[in-house]
Amino acid sequence: MGFNVAIDGPAGAGKSTIAKKIAKKMNYIYVDTGAMYRAMALFLLRNHVEPTDDKAVSEKCREADITLRHEQGEQVVLLNGENVNGLIRTEEVGNMASYSSPNPDVREKMVELQRQLAKNADVIMDGRDIGTCVLPDADVKVYLTASSAVRAKRRYDELTAKGEACDLSVIEADIIERDHRDMTRELSPLKQAEDAVLVDSSDMTIDEVVDTIIALCK
Ligand code: DC
Repeated sequence: MGFNVAIDGPAGAGKSTIAKKIAKKMNYIYVDTGAMYRAMALFLLRNHVEPTDDKAVSEKCREADITLRHEQGEQVVLLNGENVNGLIRTEEVGNMASYSSPNPDVREKMVELQRQLAKNADVIMDGRDIGTCVLPDADVKVYLTASSAVRAKRRYDELTAKGEACDLSVIEADIIERDHRDMTRELSPLKQAEDAVLVDSSDMTIDEVVDTIIALCK
């Protein structure tokens, strides 16, 4: 059994940035489960599946084989053998993922793979349901959050840095809507596990958050 760290929280809370740094410092494998749901969303978009057509999502998702590989410490997401790392970080894919990830057939596939990854390795895994569903016995559980305004600004800076045109108020509205969908969905909604430690990063630096979580691991 590996040492398992679960980081859950809403979009833009800084989960992946933080988890990557901790993975490096502590020699854990970082597993970004959002990237898996995004790869599935990309597959569905490519196949012109309507986000709200649950039946079509259930049927089509069977044709997607999503696997993770780690190369030089970096996670590579493979969709039917194709490296899709560079294609899944768009708002379009994120929005589709928010509709398709509640689907039970999609989740079943992803959760099984995630548990497999955590079984024999020391992992830090981030997502929405890691502490509550995927790894209920994780050694450390953190619920990482920040205000929606702070999260919108972070995403805005990220997209602007990549040269994507965007609008701060649209992003914040999107974040609030996505939070609502993630928190109210029937299957594995986003919520703090009872035994998770709450960390609000609104007024913390990245290093402060990293140090707080590493202290919990030790
Ligand atoms: O963290 P992210 O923005 O990359 O996640 C993309 C979508 O996938 C988001 O709408 C929530 C969903 N997701 C999920 O349902 N369960 C997870 N463990 C991780 C992400």
